[in-house]
Amino acid sequence: MSVENSMEKAAFAVRENAHAPYSNFKVGAAVRSVEGAIYAGCNVENISYPEGTCAEAGAIAAMVAAGETRISEVFVVADSKQPVSPCGGCRQKLAEFGAGDVVVTLANLNGVRVRMTLAELLPGAFSTNHMDLDHKDSD
Ligand code: THU
Repeated sequence: MSVENSMEKAAFAVRENAHAPYSNFKVGAAVRSVEGAIYAGCNVENISYPEGTCAEAGAIAAMVAAGETRISEVFVVADSKQPVSPCGGCRQKLAEFGAGDVVVTLANLNGVRVRMTLAELLPGAFSTNHMDLDHKDSD
C-alpha cells in the first residue's frame, strides 16, 4: 500500500472511534513521522465542552508517546462538505513538530482532497525564533 493510502486508511479508520456525541462531527487524523511510522487520533469530546480534544492533538500525542517528535506528513478527514480545516490551535500544535514544507492533506468522505503545506496553514507561526533570549532585557 502506498504511503498516501496508508495514511488515508488510518485516518478514516480512527475517525470511526471518535467520541463526538455533542457536535456529531467525527474527525480522524494521521501523522507520519520522519521515521515512517503512522500515528492516528480522533476527536474526544467531553460534557464539559472546553475539555474536548481534536483529532490532530490525539495523533500528535500518540507520536510523542511512541518517542517520536518529527512529523513528515499529515492527513485529516471529516464528513464535511469542504475538506475539514484544522483549527488554529491544531495548526500551532502541528507546527511544533513539523516543518513549514510538511504536506497536510485535508479530506472529506466524498473523495475531495485539498493539499496544503503547514506554512500555508499557519503563516507567521509563533516559533522558537520569537523566543530568542538575546533580544530580551536581562533585568
Ligand atoms: N475538530 C477536530 O478534531 N479537528 C479539526 O480539524 C476540526 C475540528 C473537532 C473538534 C470538535 O470535537 C468537533 O470537531 C467540532 O468542532
